[in-house]
Amino acid sequence: MDLLENMTDNLSAILVIFGGTGDLTHRKLIPALYNLVIDKLLPKNFSIVAVGRRNKTEEEYKSDMYRSLQEHSRNKVDERHWRKLASMLHYYQFDFTDLKGYEGLKNFLDTLDKEANTGGNRVFYLAVAPEHFETIVHGLHISNMTKKHGSWSRLIIEKPFGKDLKTARKLNNKLLEVFDENSIYRIDHYLGKEMIQNIMVLRFCNSIFESIWNNKFIDNVQISLTEKLGVGNRSGYYEHSGAIRDMVQSHIIQILSLVAMEPPINLKTDSIRTEKQKVIEAIEDITPGFLKNNVVFGQYGKGYIDGIPVPGYREEPKVPADSNTETFVALKLHINNFRWAGTPFYIRTGKRMGSGSAEIVIQFKDLPNILYFKDKEIQDPNLLVLRIQPNIGVFFQFNTKDFTTYDGIVPTKMDTSHFSAKQGNTPEAYERLIYDILRGDATLFPRWDEVEAAWSFADRIIQYRENKISQFPNYDAGSMGPVAAFELLARDGRKWWNI
Ligand SMILES: NC(=O)c1ccc[n+]([C@@H]2O[C@H](COP(=O)([O-])OP(=O)(O)OC[C@H]3O[C@@H](n4cnc5c(N)ncnc54)[C@H](OP(=O)(O)O)[C@@H]3O)[C@@H](O)[C@H]2O)c1
Repeated sequence: MDLLENMTDNLSAILVIFGGTGDLTHRKLIPALYNLVIDKLLPKNFSIVAVGRRNKTEEEYKSDMYRSLQEHSRNKVDERHWRKLASMLHYYQFDFTDLKGYEGLKNFLDTLDKEANTGGNRVFYLAVAPEHFETIVHGLHISNMTKKHGSWSRLIIEKPFGKDLKTARKLNNKLLEVFDENSIYRIDHYLGKEMIQNIMVLRFCNSIFESIWNNKFIDNVQISLTEKLGVGNRSGYYEHSGAIRDMVQSHIIQILSLVAMEPPINLKTDSIRTEKQKVIEAIEDITPGFLKNNVVFGQYGKGYIDGIPVPGYREEPKVPADSNTETFVALKLHINNFRWAGTPFYIRTGKRMGSGSAEIVIQFKDLPNILYFKDKEIQDPNLLVLRIQPNIGVFFQFNTKDFTTYDGIVPTKMDTSHFSAKQGNTPEAYERLIYDILRGDATLFPRWDEVEAAWSFADRIIQYRENKISQFPNYDAGSMGPVAAFELLARDGRKWWNI
């Protein structure tokens, strides 16, 4: 069978990547497109136009991308598939802050449209710093690139979507002047991860889980997104973002909403997004009084990661020596609805931690303190762990008789998860996301009202944080965060699980 022939012509499009010479394009987007070529998941008539400022010929640009592919593609690069991708790839040099330049881009796309038979359909991917989002959308608008009779235009916006509720609203209003909500795809790459999509499958395809997925059976839920990495060369961005904006407002809130949502009435995009949005709205009012006892901020000092000495956050390049940016947050919250009232959700995220993983732990309630629980002092609760990365899969812990002793009881650990490398070649998040955008499926992209509710939640934590004097640094690189984060759970008679 010919490559790419399983997609129909009406999905034909030109993908225009603003930021075509940037890090994201090198490391994620081009490898994702290459793997979509291999999997025959790109439309038959499809072109990619990478926009950059750098002076390069198309051949030089392709050579750059070839080198990046060899470094970053999950599949080995072979000539046949590379030639197919290269035949779709074009480089267009222009400074997107120069509004007069858009006319030239439009003519280039129109010409390409005829050659490649792409039907006037456009996907504009803004893989650029957020301060350029509005400029580019304005440029597309005034050059009439977004509306063409009989064809469609979609806009992809990279994270971060605003830096607080006010700026996110302003940005959204600007986008809506040009694109309608259904054509805007806000990237949260966590939603493209296999295990995040598996949350709904596990919950709604297994009676054993769904029937006990509530406050009657679940003692607490923990969402931990920890990294061994420091800020690296992203310190310029991170210093103004911090962990709340970078992780909590986006990835953690999205995961929380999938774990806690009610079953949607069907699997249509808006049915799912509506249920997720309701969860975010139901988060108990996090007033300064509540936060005083239920949030912990941290910033890493120097320490050791895997035995190698690493600097503290304030010693990282471009970070001020008195920086108050948080690189760690732990928070307890409640979701005020019938399903979850009384069950705490603990969230934790941090950089330069002793272990790097993304996991959701569901801790089930203990049985009454009689029978074995009384006589054997059983310590280990039933745990269901959804591993997102680096391992992917499900872990379940339950008690069984210890066959090596007369009457002992031991926790049995059933683990279906593996390092992704061993498990096989699972698609990267960006592959799934780009594929869905080309098909017009927005399920894995947060709707505006979800983003708005998430900002309104995050803003309250950010405001509280900004009014608080912090004693930073307060955890060593290589540890699992500040002592106060352990005390947060210990006060409730619980602990963080690192299974
Ligand atoms: N990198 C990641 O892993 C990552 C992860 C998540 C989200 N993101 C988001 O993705 C976006 C891009 O990040 P990045 O790391 O790829 O940034 P980057 O490496 O700094 O790339 C920026 C890109 O913008 C282009 N650019 C800047 N000003 C321009 C202008 N006036 N005219 C034309 N092109 C211009 C640059 O082109 P020239 O170099 O040719 O000037 C370059 O291609 C950001 O919103 C970031 O937050 C990135």
